[in-house]
Amino acid sequence: AAALGTTLPATAGAQTAAAASAAGNLSFPPDFLWGCATASYQIEGAAKEDGRGPTVWDIFSHTPGKVANGDTGDVACDSYHRYPEDIALLKALGVKAYRFSIAWSRIFPEGRGKPNQKGVDYYNRLVDALLAAGITPHVTLFHWDLPAALPGGWQNRDTAYAFGDYAAFMAGRLSDRVKQFMTVNELLCFTDLGYLTGGKAPGLKLPQKDANQVRHHGVLAHGLGVQAIRANAKAGTRVGLAENPSIYVPAVETPDHIEAVKKATRDTNAMFLTAIMEGRYLDSYLTAQGKDAPKVQEGDMKLIGAPLDFLSINVYTGKMVRADVSKPEGYAILPMTGEAPRMPSKWLYVTPEVIYWGLRAISELWKPKALYISENGCSADDKVSDDGKVYDTDRVMYLRNYMTHLQRAAREGLPIKGYFVWSLMDNFEWEDGYTKLVGIHHVDFKTQKRTPKLSADWYRELVRTNRLV
Ligand code: NOJ
Repeated sequence: AAALGTTLPATAGAQTAAAASAAGNLSFPPDFLWGCATASYQIEGAAKEDGRGPTVWDIFSHTPGKVANGDTGDVACDSYHRYPEDIALLKALGVKAYRFSIAWSRIFPEGRGKPNQKGVDYYNRLVDALLAAGITPHVTLFHWDLPAALPGGWQNRDTAYAFGDYAAFMAGRLSDRVKQFMTVNELLCFTDLGYLTGGKAPGLKLPQKDANQVRHHGVLAHGLGVQAIRANAKAGTRVGLAENPSIYVPAVETPDHIEAVKKATRDTNAMFLTAIMEGRYLDSYLTAQGKDAPKVQEGDMKLIGAPLDFLSINVYTGKMVRADVSKPEGYAILPMTGEAPRMPSKWLYVTPEVIYWGLRAISELWKPKALYISENGCSADDKVSDDGKVYDTDRVMYLRNYMTHLQRAAREGLPIKGYFVWSLMDNFEWEDGYTKLVGIHHVDFKTQKRTPKLSADWYRELVRTNRLV
């Protein structure tokens, strides 16, 4: 018995230590910033209130046939009025940060000119209430709701300058309390998808040449925004953007395929992120576009490539890449085959590894000072149960898997500082209206009641323990 008494605890102790070290391996860094994200047009509602001007999304969503069910953001989650409730949700989750966007047309109803104080007041109230709740505001200045009054929208180079002026104004008003600004969100979605393929506002299908010019105005707006924030914000304000670069997973984790992932990341983002991180358009992009290449004015590329304090990426899905020496570019991007798992949004293939490989390729290519995941999440097959709760096991699986690869990025020392789940709550999912819901809180759009889904319970525990279990 004595022998047993001495061996057993020792063995048990060793097992506990092994378990603890395995669990320790799954921890996130102590200061890792957990948050949730939303965007103005998707949640605010109050479309005609307090002087808000119309945007391209108001027009698009009110055009028959453009958005599923004819849904609009007129009311959405009514967060314009219910923001205290939404802050309470954040607080209950225990997150330390909230990413939201400012509706440009609440501030400048016509995109430029005289500011609308009531709009400014709203964001002052929101920021103050967040800070009072101990939640750090992270602000996106442009999340697609372009003031409709700006002539030609992003086809017009002047829109980039109007954005710069608006960014300067907001930095002046908020940077005493907001320390982290993102200029624009997802360049591809408000340029190509709005002006080339037309599935998003303003719904145009322009020739490639014109679409390339729109892309250029988008990155130029980012550059002018950076310059404006630097010139007008208080010291210590950090500037970046929230981009959704095309990102990839090596088909096999060997040096040649990993190198192929890096090259594909650089090449296929030539018109957006690569231009921003390198301050130039790759020759391969300019050659491929030929006479359709964008018209670039002197000084543009320097503005576009201005150094950033951080880079945020929205991560949902990615493709596999393999090295292929038979191709001039040296790699092949592989199509999704067979019944690859995907979520209800038809573009949302489940590729959890891409969160790690996206961050790693970007780190190695451009050495950003700090990286954030400004969005990650999914639509899911949400059903309200008899007890009023949504048991979104599919979303929990999705998040848990992506987080595993996020944790790998942190563990291996990539400069990943924080993560924002998309989205705090169900909201207006653009052309899918309210048919694809992406929140970790269920919203009853008749009563506006918010209810945590199972995924919110899961996320709360992750935030509390700061580790995966
Ligand atoms: C990225 C966009 O920024 C966001 O507005 C959208 O709702 C999510 N993707 C989900 O599709």
